[in-house]
Amino acid sequence: NYDYIKDLISYLENEHTLSKENLVILLKSEYTDEICQAADRVRKKFVGDVVHLRGLIEISNYCCRTCYYCGLRVYNKSIKRYRMDENEILQCAKATKDAGLKTVVLQGGEDKHFKIKDLCNIVEKIKDLDLSITLSIGELTTKEYADLKKAGADRYLLRIETTNKDLYKKLHPNMSFDNRVRCLIDLKELGYEVGTGCLIGLPGQTSDMLAEDILFFKNIDADMIGMGPFIPTPNTPLENEKGGNVEIVLKMLALTRLLLPDINMPATTALGVKADNGYIKGLRAGANVIMPNMGLNEYKKLYALYPGKTSDDGSKVVNDLENIRKLIISENRIIGHEKGDRKKIWKNP
Ligand code: 5AD
Repeated sequence: NYDYIKDLISYLENEHTLSKENLVILLKSEYTDEICQAADRVRKKFVGDVVHLRGLIEISNYCCRTCYYCGLRVYNKSIKRYRMDENEILQCAKATKDAGLKTVVLQGGEDKHFKIKDLCNIVEKIKDLDLSITLSIGELTTKEYADLKKAGADRYLLRIETTNKDLYKKLHPNMSFDNRVRCLIDLKELGYEVGTGCLIGLPGQTSDMLAEDILFFKNIDADMIGMGPFIPTPNTPLENEKGGNVEIVLKMLALTRLLLPDINMPATTALGVKADNGYIKGLRAGANVIMPNMGLNEYKKLYALYPGKTSDDGSKVVNDLENIRKLIISENRIIGHEKGDRKKIWKNP
């Protein structure tokens, strides 16, 4: 009942911890607005009104993996593949810098033809621009992560996607959950700021599993969390499944903010694609980051993780920089002009 829910929310708002059972109750409850409002207060108290912008550059859509949900999976023969060269990447990084952003995110499929040595070179050159560098290029060896860190990479994004081992196994043939966790632990130990996260609304995923995802984020002390709805993608095994529900995504964002009050958390592109005013809804549910796409136009539509990412896809999502800036102002939030590292305030008890 409502009194119990209200108690749970205020406990969470003050203590930033909750049992799995109670998280499940909140995830299943209809009080999305109340949960989001509490998350919004905690967001304001811990990370303030600044929204950090991270310039996303999608460097390659080649991928050797076969994740059931993803449009970049190797068996999807219907998309044209591309790989940016060093000059193109540096050109985008410069444009990101010129636009006043302080972080570039180099994201790509697991493209084994991208040599780590070359990537280190690129990282070094971007570092000369005095930008923070986030990498998001999947599972690598400890040595490879170490080399990239030495070259100047600051942060790394690697979603766990789901912490339920059975579901993980079903959706990721020939991949190892334990290796993915190994990657996250390596990255932490090497001194990266580490981002992880999950898909929401996967077939077979329960509220129980989602509650465990949040507790996992807290357990590994993630610095950043990215989450969005699963969006069914043509030419993948899950093309005919139902996609994730926006209300649950908002509750997940809000509960994650309540449990990990000082992290950086984007309103993701997938949320922007799935919901009307998705970025705004995300910003009101605890998010404090947006990642405008700063890549080259010719490649944006090829980076087809899921449909609806670009306007020529009939999409209503506005992920160009100018629109995102306007949207932040219209929400009475502040556009970040600093690197926006996580400022750790809250210690996990
Ligand atoms: N719907 C939503 N998100 C997806 N991703 C991949 N495929 C989809 C999809 N169909 C997400 C994964 C990955 C991130 C880069 O994109 O969570 O980590």
